[in-house]
Amino acid sequence: MSDSDRAVAAARAAREHAVAPFSGFKVGAALLTRGGRVFGGCNVENASYGLTVCAERVALLKALSEGERDFTLLAVAADTAAPTPPCGPCRQLLWEYCGDIPIVLANLTTVVAHHRLAALLPFPFEATLFRP
Ligand code: THU
Repeated sequence: MSDSDRAVAAARAAREHAVAPFSGFKVGAALLTRGGRVFGGCNVENASYGLTVCAERVALLKALSEGERDFTLLAVAADTAAPTPPCGPCRQLLWEYCGDIPIVLANLTTVVAHHRLAALLPFPFEATLFRP
């Protein structure tokens, strides 16, 4: 199984745990590390809405909190025909911690799009701008 297939399978599995009683929109994500580990995440909503955390950020924070710092690919899975790309805040965080990784967007049966993060977040704000 390819890295991409592994990540997509993990994103679909993570999506099963989504806590999305308000939107009803379940999302799963999975981040691969260079060492071969896979960190899954799902969206977690809450009654104040604004504190909702996207699947991508959950996966990233899980991995960072386990000491991982080197990432090679992100997969996102949702039950839609059109691809579900990471939202703006997630793109920012992913850029800061993962750099220009490939992003695979899938639904429950097929991969629907491939992107690079640099294409999804052109002209990014980053720490090198103020901390050379
Ligand atoms: N959501 C994600 O988890 N990831 C995305 O890439 C887009 C949006 C979640 C947030 C919220 O729980 C629901 O999808 C609807 O916006």
